[in-house]
Amino acid sequence: MKITVVGAGAVGATCADNIARKELCQELVLLDIKEGIAEGKAQDMMQTATLLGFDTRIVGSTNDYAKTAGSDVVVITSGLPRKPGMTREELIGVNAGIVKGVCKNILQYSPNAIIIVVSNPMDTMTYLALQDTGLPKNRIIGMGGTLDSSRFKYQLSQHLNCSPSDLNAVVVGGHGDTTMIPLIRMATWNSVPVTQFLNQEQQDKIVKETMVGGATLTALIGTSAWYAPGAAGAALVEAIVRDEKKIMACCVSLEGEYGQKDICLGVPVVLGKNGWEKIVDYKLTEGEQAAFNKSADAVRNMNAVLETLSL
Ligand code: 2OP
Repeated sequence: MKITVVGAGAVGATCADNIARKELCQELVLLDIKEGIAEGKAQDMMQTATLLGFDTRIVGSTNDYAKTAGSDVVVITSGLPRKPGMTREELIGVNAGIVKGVCKNILQYSPNAIIIVVSNPMDTMTYLALQDTGLPKNRIIGMGGTLDSSRFKYQLSQHLNCSPSDLNAVVVGGHGDTTMIPLIRMATWNSVPVTQFLNQEQQDKIVKETMVGGATLTALIGTSAWYAPGAAGAALVEAIVRDEKKIMACCVSLEGEYGQKDICLGVPVVLGKNGWEKIVDYKLTEGEQAAFNKSADAVRNMNAVLETLSL
């Protein structure tokens, strides 16, 4: 098994670090456009191998895609991160060109790869990757919902004073501060609906805090977060390479599912060796479906911006 992570910034390097620690492949390539950064971080990580006890070989590359040849899974994290006060959507102008170029280079050397898109605005970058590569839809997966669901479980655990691992909770819709939809009605604490333990005010607060989870961290840190985004990317890789058949919220191409088409948006999917293998219908209520449709409208508007860029 061979995996490539494109972009050796904080998110890409953290993702690679998690992939290596979990020994998800024999060879892991970390690639970046900036001279030396990927080689340096790859060497630094390799020097943890005996300390952490992993056998994955990590190779760094400055923009030499030949080194990525034959990758089974590729995670694209390239592009600018957001700064405090910025929305993910503001990054489209720069990141669209970068993601397009990366997809082209990757497929030249790894025509059979499954592609995981992390770059922002993630829903639009996933759509761009799908349109531009013409790959079968199951091989293009956007990461947002997995990260947002993990943040949702964190917020719930803080209010319930419980272990996040005892929680089941999912965020669907777009990966934007106003477009994501934490499905609190369906969230459970060891099978018991969390709504039994939380009043309306608490529920609203948790949903709000989840939605601005990324922005909160950006304000605190001064740049975009990386531990959870990197771990979420690695969790998707793990579900694919171990053929886990796990249900995770991912941004995928919709062709009528959840009432939407010609769009990539976050829904629960089964992940396995073929990429995303099936969309699971969570049977949204009328209100949830209305929120999902509104989220789709916002993402569709952002996708329309792609037409105005000279890519
Ligand atoms: C976040 O929400 C990077 O979009 C990512 O932190």
